[in-house]
Amino acid sequence: MSAIKKIYKINDMQQYSDRIRENAECLAFVPTMGFLHEGHLALLKKARKLADVVVASIFVNPSQFGPGEDLESYPRNIERDLELMEKEHVDAVFIPDAKDIYPDRFQTYVELQSLPEHLCGLSRPVLFKGVATIVSKLFNIVKPHIAVFGQKDFQQLLVIKQMVCDLNYDIEIVGVPTVREKDGLAMSSRNSYLSQEERIHALSLYKSLNKALEMAKAGERDTSKIIKEATDIIISCPDSTIDYIMICDSETLKNLDTIDRPALMALAVKIGTTRLIDNMILQI
Ligand code: PAJ
Repeated sequence: MSAIKKIYKINDMQQYSDRIRENAECLAFVPTMGFLHEGHLALLKKARKLADVVVASIFVNPSQFGPGEDLESYPRNIERDLELMEKEHVDAVFIPDAKDIYPDRFQTYVELQSLPEHLCGLSRPVLFKGVATIVSKLFNIVKPHIAVFGQKDFQQLLVIKQMVCDLNYDIEIVGVPTVREKDGLAMSSRNSYLSQEERIHALSLYKSLNKALEMAKAGERDTSKIIKEATDIIISCPDSTIDYIMICDSETLKNLDTIDRPALMALAVKIGTTRLIDNMILQI
């Protein structure tokens, strides 16, 4: 019983969504780059609970990858993704062609001013311009009432919320907590790049976040002390390179010296050649 509708063309997607809206049904949207894992499935489940119709997309968006990043090698398995989406009762999946999304004379991008100046935006300068642009385009194509994103990509979630506010999109943005493997590693399509040994070392991200949370809960407010402990955990793994470990304001992402408000601890670490990110809110 194959129920999922596959939509490849922009016009077809827009017409599908127009019909949903004409029927006064609520449409929830989950954008993805495919190679689904339990994290993506949690988003689809959330969407299913919130709306009458669930649309997902699979598109490895070239504009958010910088030169030398993993656009070509990004893992792909559309058949498996479709099976998993069907199991989650997704109604339709939009699988556009890059040439239709970015035709030759494409020249309009969405760029935020300050949120991308922090965390991942520093080492991946085109990332959030690419993300904001593709999500903006997908919103105009899929026309959802609700869109669901993961807190695993906390900065991305803030960027989307800010864009929706600034550009007056009439879309409710819903965040879903990070889904982790049993041992705590945040699920990510990029975990598939890790060797067996690297997979063990990758756990240091979660361990360092937990150490930070423990220290904050015990009353430590000095972020430099927390970051020092977290850094020690990471560098005890021989094949790790720290991109950043930061404790920042969870709304502006500005660096905090003292935890005196809701704080986000966020880190990006290369294990071998694989760049992993994770984060945790430090409650006080
Ligand atoms: P992708 O990495 O495929 O992630 C799609 C969605 O799944 C994002 O909202 C992401 O935050 C969420 N997600 C990933 N891992 C998760 C986890 N372990 N727990 C909970 N949610 C998780 O993020 C992108 O694609 C792209 O940037 C995209 C938004 C599709 C734009 O191209």
